[in-house]
Amino acid sequence: MKLELIATATFGLEAVVKRELENLGYKILKSEDGKITFLGDERAVVRANLWLRSADRVQIKMAEFTVLEFEDLFQQMKAIPWEEWIPIDGKFVVNGSSVKSKLSSVPACQSVAEKAVVERLKEFYMVDYFTKTGAAYDIKITILKDRVTVTLDTTGPGLHKRGYRTHSVEAPIKETLAAAMIQLSFWNKDRILSDPCCGSGTIPIEAALIAKNIAPGISRSFASEEWEAIPANLWKEERKAAFEAIDNECKPKIFGLDINPKAIAAAKANAEEAGVDDCIKFAAADISAMRTKSLSGVMVTNPPYGERIGDRRGIEKIYEAYRRFFGENPTWSLFVVTADKSIEKALGRSADRRRKLYNGRLEVCYYQFHGEKV
Ligand SMILES: C[S@@+](CC[C@H](N)C(=O)[O-])C[C@H]1O[C@@H](n2cnc3c(N)ncnc32)[C@H](O)[C@@H]1O
Repeated sequence: MKLELIATATFGLEAVVKRELENLGYKILKSEDGKITFLGDERAVVRANLWLRSADRVQIKMAEFTVLEFEDLFQQMKAIPWEEWIPIDGKFVVNGSSVKSKLSSVPACQSVAEKAVVERLKEFYMVDYFTKTGAAYDIKITILKDRVTVTLDTTGPGLHKRGYRTHSVEAPIKETLAAAMIQLSFWNKDRILSDPCCGSGTIPIEAALIAKNIAPGISRSFASEEWEAIPANLWKEERKAAFEAIDNECKPKIFGLDINPKAIAAAKANAEEAGVDDCIKFAAADISAMRTKSLSGVMVTNPPYGERIGDRRGIEKIYEAYRRFFGENPTWSLFVVTADKSIEKALGRSADRRRKLYNGRLEVCYYQFHGEKV
């Protein structure tokens, strides 16, 4: 079936997700405000969930219309062929949001929309009530300036939940953001990557997954895996293809350091869980001890920034270490996500690029300091 699909993403990451979708071979229809709309089919639902590294979730766009009255909302929701997706025992719920719209009460909109779905399915299945004991179907109505977009979530727990981060530390970065930072950097699998404040190892692990071409969703399940409407053989075929696509010969040079030995123990355990412990070297060390003999490399990192952990003196020590390291190694590049606005002053140079991003709800900036050409 031809489907209009939406990959949702954190604001600022639309271009990265768009590129990922294009690399998977899909035609992009629209990319704006954290939503990348593309054309696909049931197999695309499977592939996008398995392979997207920087998106939050994959949704099926069920309808788009304008409403001013609750009765319109009810009728438009009832006109959607829900029975094509939701079986008689489907556990469906409707969630919503409303911004700058006449229908402003979210609970009322949700209730009317859900009633319409119930009525449609009651008529189709000729029953009076639903047990809702089967697979989950999360319907979302997003109302913006009276325009309603209706989507059906195919992902379940967000795509950042790869399944490997079984050991955590304070203030970990989201896996999807780490993957985007790497894809926005100069790094490729033939270059050295170092994260000297690696915490639970998210950035080195995401880099290793990219280097070895491991699908980020290969070890987890998805809401739509339980659906009858997406044939089980598609999941089987695409998982098999993803396993066959793994480049086991690739031996990238990836390093993770952290001053906290407990963080390093967590990072090692997580890398093992992700199946990439063979290509990352982790060590408990202070960043000020970091040295290299390599002519060029890329530091992609997420140091403490005071909002959640780390005191000012600790952060300044890290910046001193950057200054010394990049003074000694001018051909290395630094890519750093932080909410701390003093970094450029502390480094004594302006970033070559800055990008506003979000780590969860926290606004951060991605500073890119490019090294000299070798
Ligand atoms: C924001 S956390 C990094 C989180 C990590 N990206 C993750 O996903 O788990 C910052 C890390 O910097 C480490 N750190 C603080 N000072 C350091 C120093 N001087 N040298 C090395 N690591 C340091 C902390 O122990 C902490 O794990």
